[in-house]
Amino acid sequence: MTANESTPNRKARGAFFTPPAIAEFLARWAIANDPGARVLDPTCGEAVFLLAAGARLRELGAAPTAVPEQLTGVDLHQPSLDESGRILRADGLGARLVRSDFFELVTPAQIGDALGWQDAVIGNPPFVRYQQHRGDVRKRSASAALAQGVRLSGLASSWAATLVHGSAFLKPTGRLAMVLPAELLTVHYAEPLRRWLRQRFQAVNLVMFERLQFRDAEEQVVLLVARGTGPCDSFCLFHVDDADDLAEIHPLDPVGANPAAEGKWSDLVLPLDVRQLFKRASLEKMTRLDSYGTPELGTVTGANDYFTLSEVTRRKFGISEKHLRPISPPGTRHLKGLTFSRARWEELKLAGERVWLLHPERRARAAGLKRYLELGEAQKVPEAYKCTVRDPWWRPPVVPAPDLFFTYMSHRYPRLIANTSGVTLVNSMHGIRLNPDMAAVARDALPLLALNSVTMLGAEILGRAYGGGILKMEPREAASLPVPASVELHVAWKQLCDRRGCLDAALRRGEWWTVVAEVDRVLLKDAIGLTNEEVVAVRDAATLLRVRRTRQTEVHAAATSA
Ligand SMILES: C[S@@+](CC[C@H](N)C(=O)[O-])C[C@H]1O[C@@H](n2cnc3c(N)ncnc32)[C@H](O)[C@@H]1O
Repeated sequence: MTANESTPNRKARGAFFTPPAIAEFLARWAIANDPGARVLDPTCGEAVFLLAAGARLRELGAAPTAVPEQLTGVDLHQPSLDESGRILRADGLGARLVRSDFFELVTPAQIGDALGWQDAVIGNPPFVRYQQHRGDVRKRSASAALAQGVRLSGLASSWAATLVHGSAFLKPTGRLAMVLPAELLTVHYAEPLRRWLRQRFQAVNLVMFERLQFRDAEEQVVLLVARGTGPCDSFCLFHVDDADDLAEIHPLDPVGANPAAEGKWSDLVLPLDVRQLFKRASLEKMTRLDSYGTPELGTVTGANDYFTLSEVTRRKFGISEKHLRPISPPGTRHLKGLTFSRARWEELKLAGERVWLLHPERRARAAGLKRYLELGEAQKVPEAYKCTVRDPWWRPPVVPAPDLFFTYMSHRYPRLIANTSGVTLVNSMHGIRLNPDMAAVARDALPLLALNSVTMLGAEILGRAYGGGILKMEPREAASLPVPASVELHVAWKQLCDRRGCLDAALRRGEWWTVVAEVDRVLLKDAIGLTNEEVVAVRDAATLLRVRRTRQTEVHAAATSA
């Protein structure tokens, strides 16, 4: 590593260096058996990939004088390039080393290209989060990606554009081999990349590690190896323990995976046996949540602060209850247990929570109500978008009271809550009205029985991670959440309904893991028939994804505050 450079400086240019075993594996794969291959590392750092590529070309019998012509390394950091030159020379190798912002280098398809078409593009793109990846550099990188048809959002880290721009230097038969952060598979901003990968390449392979590979980077990585011209309809997937195991990977015995055409590929992060176990348990032994009832949005008011009222406000303006609908107050903090009852609603009313939703009768003329509507006008509420598109602005379209609430923004996991209060909700939760043929038992049983490891793993796979590590599930994603099917639900409920009070109390105390352990035993083991080991594997996988989701955000937060 170049002497005298501070850690913050290295982080700012995304300089985390690749272990040689990984660089050798990728260079070997990308060059295959072609001694004449032209190889580009677009962000070469201190030449670990160029060194590996040079060694491979030499092994294949490339002429020593030709190798420096075949290898190109780009980096914007001159001391790294100087070090690269020294390291290559010490090994009897050479390369064309170009000091430049890679995004300033035009592709071979454009006039003014200096690098030429490549057989292989290899490397470890800089990983600089969007907070640091700013200004002109970000603009150049975003337009380079756009030139290849990939519109990256403002949240994209720097590696994304390097991958896309790098691929534009490949011949139609060329090979790309890169170290990338595992967030490629999961984060929302990488969605255009996942779609593009399927279109751009004829074959895409991913290698995943069980253990972290980089001493100085927190990120989990994947190796992406892709070749040819697309589209492709399936990926090959390898799981290895660490870099030492790469030698055992043979490209001829891939494990095929068919990633979703849209959305996340989070389940690819799991070891194959757990993925298969999850699929088997959720498809064969469980059902989708929407087989009980479709998750729907709560009432969208356009201005919850105005349209939801406390009892104190109601009395202050003298608004009659006939102009209001009782609701579960905005937010979910007050919903710690398995049920939301009318008694709980009354408690919240006394506690000054916003338990009312404004829904005046159409011809209402009462003086207090009129004053409240004038207050809304003074606060410019009618100008809120949702208010402008309805007539009158002051009458939000209230959804009927659901049988279940669904907390769709959760730190730990989404929850179902039986709504025995008869009140409705605003859009801080989803609501589920059970299909008429669904026995009342589903309303009581699902909130408890959904606290099992298969459902929780399903939430991690189907949901999306948002800022603060929050897991968000839109109604469509919630609809496909795996929950126990009717027969197993009845069997498990019979065992657990007497314990409901106890388990509810444990949940309210925050001891959710004891509840999950008990539901796993009764539902997954006894009713569904998973073995102990299988239950533990699914629970560990759910924990792994949850920890990764929340930890990614902690790393994120640390980067922002740094
Ligand atoms: C993650 S390091 C990888 C270095 C080397 N390929 C390896 O794996 O050890 C990323 C390198 O990209 C360089 N870099 C960052 N942004 C760049 C850009 N826009 N153009 C060219 N190089 C860049 C940094 O200076 C750093 O050396």
